[in-house]
Amino acid sequence: MNAIAAPLPARVAPAQETWLLPGGRAVRLHPLAAVDADAEQAFFRGLSLDSRQKRFHIGLRELSPALLRLLTDVDQQLHRAWAVEALQPGLPFVADARYVREAERPDEAEFALAVADDWQGLGLGRRLLAHLASHAARHGVRRLFGDVLADNRRMLALMREAGARLQAHPDGPQLVRTVLELTPTA
Ligand SMILES: CC(C)(COP(=O)(O)OP(=O)(O)OC[C@H]1O[C@@H](n2cnc3c(N)ncnc32)[C@H](O)[C@@H]1OP(=O)(O)O)[C@@H](O)C(=O)NCCC(=O)NCCS
Repeated sequence: MNAIAAPLPARVAPAQETWLLPGGRAVRLHPLAAVDADAEQAFFRGLSLDSRQKRFHIGLRELSPALLRLLTDVDQQLHRAWAVEALQPGLPFVADARYVREAERPDEAEFALAVADDWQGLGLGRRLLAHLASHAARHGVRRLFGDVLADNRRMLALMREAGARLQAHPDGPQLVRTVLELTPTA
């Protein structure tokens, strides 16, 4: 069964893609690379404490060098990651999205995304989830999952809307395991 609801676009996304948001602001999606480390750190530092907690489930002040490297020095094979940048000079990244799989289980991937506070509520989260699902489906992933804090209503609403299953988490009621089944696409 295709659990992804109709709003998720099935088309193939190019490496770089430009999106127009409500209000006329344009953003561009590009694959993250090691060269983006400073911009990624700036993006993370710019997030509110609440958003940082929702993304990492702990109150990090900034990304440690090891975590920064893990997030940006990606192979774009098992670990696929994108940054969204505003098409206005001088602005840091406005969002970040990724999925990661193990070599032993290439049909299953864990995803994560974050949108800068000033850019939330404009549809970026929904579009990024659609992008991740569409890209993952085309690259052999059959199940996309993510652990979401139980009080993260916006993310849980987004996952429900996409057709995900929301499951109890083995670590306790503070977490919800969200699981999106993907349909193979060419
Ligand atoms: C969760 C997050 C990614 C959503 O991104 P976003 O760009 O703000 O989301 P969108 O604008 O695409 O909104 C998607 C949907 O979320 C839901 N939503 C929005 N605001 C909401 C709110 N205040 N309460 C509950 N649901 C809400 C709605 O269903 C909304 O659809 P709508 O357009 O019909 O209102 C973003 O808020 C974020 O980065 N939060 C901090 C980090 C985080 O939580 N990451 C997820 C962990 S994997």
